[in-house]
Amino acid sequence: MDRNLSLDFVRVTENAAIASARWIGAGDNHAADKAATEHMRARLNSIDFKGRIVIGEGERDEAPMLYIGEQVGNGNGAEFDLAVDPLEGTNLVAKGWANALSVLAAGKKGALLHAPDTYMDKIACGPEAKGKIDLDYAPEENIRIVAEALGRKKSEITVAMMDRDRHLELMKKVRAVGAKIRLITDGDVSAALATAMPQHGIDLLLGVGGAPEGVISAAGMKCLGGDFQGRLKYRNGEERKRGEKMGLTEGKKHAMEEIAKGEVLFAATGVTEGFLLDGVKFSARQISTHSLVMRSSSKTVRFVEAHHDSEMQAKFEKSKGIA
Ligand code: FBP
Repeated sequence: MDRNLSLDFVRVTENAAIASARWIGAGDNHAADKAATEHMRARLNSIDFKGRIVIGEGERDEAPMLYIGEQVGNGNGAEFDLAVDPLEGTNLVAKGWANALSVLAAGKKGALLHAPDTYMDKIACGPEAKGKIDLDYAPEENIRIVAEALGRKKSEITVAMMDRDRHLELMKKVRAVGAKIRLITDGDVSAALATAMPQHGIDLLLGVGGAPEGVISAAGMKCLGGDFQGRLKYRNGEERKRGEKMGLTEGKKHAMEEIAKGEVLFAATGVTEGFLLDGVKFSARQISTHSLVMRSSSKTVRFVEAHHDSEMQAKFEKSKGIA
């Protein structure tokens, strides 16, 4: 995979982040997501590559842009599959809360699991417990494994999960072994990645979140040398049908390597301030962004701070008809 593409893809998430950051605190999830999607698409279409969206804003019949199957890029150059989430945490932006990201993952054709827009049961951990944790084990057992791998007591392990009623049982089990819990309102991609970045104090991610976010997380975890497993959880017959059409076997546990095969690339830009990345900052002259870009082949974790000239940014947006 051409490593120069990394910078092109960072430009994509930077632009989507800038666009959605204009909606911070506006109480409008839809407008924030729409802005991020339009800008992500415009940037993607200016890159020399033949891209295909495999994880996007939804199925073709329900998403006008960046829908599953949409071709992106300017049509020149190598072929790639993309998993995109122009705005991961629409609610977070609408409310002005922390940890919203613009994010994408890319791999060769067929590299990324084609998953319908449903739920996924997930487990993620850092490199120390890679190959040892298992989605089929009880949470208590996975906590024990992570504690042992990190050389710590179970009470010194922090488990992140989404703050949802569906996790009440899981919360009980985690608390019963004495481990700590970090409940997140939205944005489980950040929480998954944090398990492989010791400075964030999250050791394990457990529980059910979005399947598209699961595919993106798996790609990121692969670049970070961590581990991830996921199992799709359909909410209804319609989603089950879509999964079957995509050739997926219900109940199958997908290992990280099956979700994100071969060499993959990951790029994310912070929209609101978060533990992984700073948020977009606007001043009269400049717009500042903070991004993360990684490739699984090198495992280099690169943080990119960029200062975009406000006038040039406005010109670009005007030229693409997305001002
Ligand atoms: P959106 O960006 O689509 O709002 O989703 C954010 C998110 O919190 C994901 O990070 C998470 O995987 C998913 O939603 C969980 O879904 P739900 O809110 O239905 O529990």
